[in-house]
Amino acid sequence: MNIVVGVTGGIAAYKTVHLVRLLTKAGHDVTVVPTEDALRFVGLPTWEAISRHPVTTSVHEDVARVRHVALGQEADLVIVAPATANSLAKMTAGIADDLLGTTLLATEAPVLVAPAMHTEMWRHPATQANIATLQQRGVHLVGPAEGELAGGDSGPGRMAEPEEVFAAAQALLGPGDLAGVRVVVSAGGTREPIDPVRFLGNRSSGRQGVALAAEAAARGAEVTLVAANISADVLAAARRPSIRVVPVGTAAELSHAMQETAAAAEVVMMAAAVADYRPVTVADRKLTKEHGGVPAIELVENEDIVASLAARRREGQVIVAFAAETPEDEAEMLARARAKQERKGVDLLVVNEVGWERGFESAENAVHILGRSGDVAGTATGSKRDVAAAVWDAVVRER
Ligand code: CTP
Repeated sequence: MNIVVGVTGGIAAYKTVHLVRLLTKAGHDVTVVPTEDALRFVGLPTWEAISRHPVTTSVHEDVARVRHVALGQEADLVIVAPATANSLAKMTAGIADDLLGTTLLATEAPVLVAPAMHTEMWRHPATQANIATLQQRGVHLVGPAEGELAGGDSGPGRMAEPEEVFAAAQALLGPGDLAGVRVVVSAGGTREPIDPVRFLGNRSSGRQGVALAAEAAARGAEVTLVAANISADVLAAARRPSIRVVPVGTAAELSHAMQETAAAAEVVMMAAAVADYRPVTVADRKLTKEHGGVPAIELVENEDIVASLAARRREGQVIVAFAAETPEDEAEMLARARAKQERKGVDLLVVNEVGWERGFESAENAVHILGRSGDVAGTATGSKRDVAAAVWDAVVRER
């Protein structure tokens, strides 16, 4: 799920570092929006490193995507932790003089606030009136707890512990539309060996497949990620208890892993870029120039894995394939995609227009999703995580 964590200027901001960690570990995509003041307590690099997203306080960055409203519109939940007395007053008045302010005004998602301030400030009628107004508007409150405060005082005003804020957030998000659903996602690109040091490969980084796995996990699915040659760095985004990673190298290994795991899955998603051909023979020793002449590598066709999974699908299983196309125009792309969907016998086909720059290796993506009857069941542009969300939305509708 898409979660915005607003951080305002209080010492408790250090606790929010752990909260962001808990949220990302649970599979959520977290964007941190600090106020300028919050950065005095915890700096930008920390927020960027733990959320794995760029962080800004300004409404003037990424203007093309209308970020100041887009963040709020796309969020499934907005958390403000810590929420200072000042920030609660601004929220109540609807002041939007920074990115957090505009995000809070633009969102229709549930909002959860975790106040943190001195006891006197918390008890002040102004703060209490603001809290009452916010609650009337549907804002959810977690804490403040009673205990020791900065400066040695004690009383109500301590920010709720990160685990408690996390639990409140999970309760607001609900069980997720894939709760308990078993899914298998293949990702990355296969490598077909030529000799001990060379292979035929492709430029797939595995980012899109990893984003699909993470999104499914965040929605409650139990995920098996069959990972073909994905770097540890990319795979890190899928490190969580509900995702089991099965590393593979070649198309044959990927096929074997898919056949084994697909049998127990309700959804099978083939996002991996599979080599259509492999060398007939693999040299035991490195090919050298001493052999003389330019070597000819004879190829043999690999099995179409997704087609054979589709042919053997169990009752009610949804099979999703991906197609990378380099078409002249959209009409040609859709026509090719429809033919591919039919040929492979899959339920959904996610078509991705790729070029030297687009699609592969890049963080941004643009796709069309074809539904069972070949209709365009969805489109998505944006981050690979945005695309992943649109693909799972389409799967949930098809189920
Ligand atoms: N795929 C597969 N097994 C293969 C080749 C591809 O399961 N041997 C799957 C991919 O994982 C993807 C889909 O098929 O989900 C589409 O792959 P693509 O390469 O676009 O299709 P091809 O069948 O190879 O068609 P073409 O190369 O002619 O476009």
